Amino acid sequence: NIPSLKEVFKYDFLIGAALNTQQIEEKDAGAVALVPQQFNAVTPENVMKAAIIQPGWNDYNFTIADELVDYAFKHNMKINAHTLIWHNQLPAFMRHMQDADSVKAYFQNHITTIASRYDGKVYSWDVVNEALNEDGTLRNSVFLQKLGEDYIVEAFRLAQKAAPHTKLYYNDYNIEQPAKRAGAIALIKKIQAAGVRIDGVGIQGHWKYNTVPMQDIEESIKAFAALGIEVMFTELDLSVLPNPWDSNTAEVSNTAEGNDKMNPYPKAVPDSVAAAQAKAYADLFSLFLKYHQAITRVTFWGVADGVSWLNGWPIHGRTNYPLLFDRQYKPKTAFYSVIKTK
Ligand code: XIL
Repeated sequence: NIPSLKEVFKYDFLIGAALNTQQIEEKDAGAVALVPQQFNAVTPENVMKAAIIQPGWNDYNFTIADELVDYAFKHNMKINAHTLIWHNQLPAFMRHMQDADSVKAYFQNHITTIASRYDGKVYSWDVVNEALNEDGTLRNSVFLQKLGEDYIVEAFRLAQKAAPHTKLYYNDYNIEQPAKRAGAIALIKKIQAAGVRIDGVGIQGHWKYNTVPMQDIEESIKAFAALGIEVMFTELDLSVLPNPWDSNTAEVSNTAEGNDKMNPYPKAVPDSVAAAQAKAYADLFSLFLKYHQAITRVTFWGVADGVSWLNGWPIHGRTNYPLLFDRQYKPKTAFYSVIKTK
């Protein structure tokens, strides 16, 4: 009998996991008992994204999203629905939309239809995802191009109207970094100044096990909490693999040697790396506990190492070890180091 994350942190914050179809439909054997035992919040990793839920104009596919609602209800878990407005995983009909009136109609219809359908069934929505550049300016997406810079306020306004009982969040990566954080703060203040409801901000938390920016994270928790909204860590994972943009992997080519360098642990992660990852996770959770009054949820981006998206991104077909449970769904050293922070 292993300890339960959701029990250990129950007076501090919700503990979540991202689920894909195989976990929602309980076809991932290792996840069936583990997910309800460990987590009291779930985020759909893909099934509520635009390309899946509205694959054709006004052609909605709610099947798996509805299964998620049933699954979460059965196990008494909160759903953070993900996501209404994002530049990625858009359906083809939308990606190639040229005319501003059509984009506006899509935008209004998509938000209103989905947010109202799930109001009272999901706990919260990532209303807008990843709208900022690294320098804090607005990303040049189809939404910015066709709707103008107020589109984010409008997204929250539409969501508020359609889903009065659902919490509404802004979610992004690297917003712990000072310049991007300043952009996020300006964005949140703009929404608040417009008299539109925003309940929280999600810091994704896709970090590397040996370069977690602790100082920036702490400053961000304080700065976002000062806006009077919930702070969450929404997509936590700590990759152990090099990224192509790391300076020391710059000259990796398409050779066997290059491939080995980018996929260094095809069989098992060395103990030293596992220990360093465990320490990084413990440092993070100690910080989260220090700010437990500001932080309302910590969600991992996946259940166990074998089903993590980081085996396939940003390079396909690698073997990564970013989560608290291993490929056999057994708790790792990092799991126990997190438990011990409490
Ligand atoms: C990822 C999923 O994990 C993958 O399965 C999918 O192929 C691509 O998207 N930021 C987000 C998430 O907000 O929606 C992304 O999820 C990971 C990065």
